Amino acid sequence: MKNTLFGKDILSTRNITKDEASSIFRRADELREIVQTKGSTDILRGKILTALFYEPSSRTYASFISAMQRLGGGIIPLNGMTNTSVAKGETLEDTIHVFDSYGDCIVMRHPEVGTSVKAAVYAKGPVVNAGDGTGEHPTQALLDVYTIRRHFPSLQGTTVTLVGDLLNGRTVHSLIMLLALYTPSRINLVSPNELRMPEEYVAYVQKTGIRVSQTDILNDVVSTTDVLYATRVQKERFSDVKVYERLKHRYVITRDTMKLLKKDTILMHPLPRVGEISPDIDGDPRALYLREQVPNGMYVRMAVLSLILKK
Ligand code: NCD
Repeated sequence: MKNTLFGKDILSTRNITKDEASSIFRRADELREIVQTKGSTDILRGKILTALFYEPSSRTYASFISAMQRLGGGIIPLNGMTNTSVAKGETLEDTIHVFDSYGDCIVMRHPEVGTSVKAAVYAKGPVVNAGDGTGEHPTQALLDVYTIRRHFPSLQGTTVTLVGDLLNGRTVHSLIMLLALYTPSRINLVSPNELRMPEEYVAYVQKTGIRVSQTDILNDVVSTTDVLYATRVQKERFSDVKVYERLKHRYVITRDTMKLLKKDTILMHPLPRVGEISPDIDGDPRALYLREQVPNGMYVRMAVLSLILKK
C-alpha cells in the first residue's frame, strides 16, 4: 500500500484519514515491539529532526527527541527560543528556512494558533504541529486514540466524555475530530459555561451522526461513560487570573468519582495535571495517563516520524 503520509505535514487531525491513522497505529505496534526487544532501530539513520519549541513542554518535546533517536536519526533540540536568533527578532520565515535546510523535518510548538500552518508554507520538509496555542495538538490525539483503541478496538457503541477546559485545550480539539473517524455513539462535553468546546468542532462531529451532549455537571454522565478524558484549565490563556482561580478546580476526579465509573471505563489525561485528578487513584487499573498514554506517546511519535520521513 502506498504511504500517503510520506512528506506530509501533520498540522491538524482534520487532514488525517482513517487509513493513515490505521497505518500509524500499526507502525506504532511494530515499533513498540522493537523498542521492547532491542531498544532502537536505524530506519531513520541519516535523517535529522529539528524540535522548535517556543512554548514549555516536557512530554511532547522529550518523546519526539527520544522517538527520533530510537529510530537512529539525529536531532536539533531547541526547547525555548531565548538562545536563538528568534530572541534577536528574526522572522518566522527566516527561522524556518534555516532549520529546513539543516534538518529533514520540523516539529514545532508555538503560542499562536496557526503558526505551524505558516511554517509549513515556508518549509520544504514536513512540519509537525506539536501544539499551536489554543488550536490543535494532532500527535497527542493520535496517541490518545491509539491508547483508547487498545482497550476498545471498535469505538462503535461507546460513550466518550471530555471534561475540563474545552475552549482553550488544544488536545481536545484535535481529539474530538480524530474520534469522529471512529464514530462512538455519543460524546459528552463537560465544562463550565465559560470554557465550552468551540462550535466549529461540535458541528464537525455532529455531521458524522455522533450524538453530542453539553453539560456542566460531570456526575450526570460518569456512570454511562466508557472513556473519561480529563484536561487542565489552561492558566496561560486567561487574561484575568481571578477567573482562572474560580474555574481551575471545578472538576476533580477523586476516589468517589471512580466509584461511579464502570469497571472497564478508562480514565485519561494528556498531562500535566494540576489538581484535576487526585494522585491517590493513580494505582487504579482504569487510570491510563501515566501507565499507558506516556509510553504510547513515544511509540506513536516514532510511527509518525518513520512514515513522514521514509517512503
Ligand atoms: C498538553 C498541551 O501542551 O497542550 N500537554 C501535552 O502536550 N501533553 C496539555 C496541557 O498542557 O494541558
